[in-house]
Amino acid sequence: MSAAETPLAEPGWGSLEDAVARVLWDEEAIQKRVRELGAQIARDYQALLGSALGENPPLVVGIFRGAIVFLADLMRAMPIPLECDYVQLYSYGKGSEAGEIQLLRDLGTPAQGRHILLVEDIVDTGQTLHFLCEHLEARGAASLKICALIDKKPRRRVKIPLDYVGFLLEEDAFVVGYGLDYAERFRNLPYVAALKPEALAP
Ligand code: IMP
Repeated sequence: MSAAETPLAEPGWGSLEDAVARVLWDEEAIQKRVRELGAQIARDYQALLGSALGENPPLVVGIFRGAIVFLADLMRAMPIPLECDYVQLYSYGKGSEAGEIQLLRDLGTPAQGRHILLVEDIVDTGQTLHFLCEHLEARGAASLKICALIDKKPRRRVKIPLDYVGFLLEEDAFVVGYGLDYAERFRNLPYVAALKPEALAP
């Protein structure tokens, strides 16, 4: 089904056809890439931890709310023992602009000695991951890896080593769907699409 055919009307935006400029990655492309990432990550943890995998399985940590859909699919593509948790952050930026970051919900599991895989929806300036890596390293994580669905390069301000990336976004487009929102809308789209610039509030 194309974006234009999706039967979803958004109050204030009209139909999706009005807000979505184009689909960047459709459901099939995303599911294929997530399966590849899950298999690769599982192999890497098996190689890293060997027989210790069962005693101290990786802690897969979603950065909510944007990573909620990606986390659910990625975990199910990793055929190894694992635990999951989430953190929730709040950025004071409005709409599509990044701002100061506050931790709204910390891990429910102690990070000390854990092999943590951070799961992020999209890396933009890099400030969110920089904040979170410092936070988790200070709590004694044994290892820290990052898996991002989308690496949006043009606005990067902080260099962040990304271990696993689903898709590269070379342009400065604001994208929605598959968990990603604009003003809390569009998270439930099964694909990732660029919004028309005029759909973004000034
Ligand atoms: P950063 O701290 O600038 O890297 O921003 C990362 C966070 O900003 C992501 O977790 C998203 O919540 C949000 N974000 C950045 N770019 C986009 C986008 O194109 N669409 C939706 N959310 C975005």
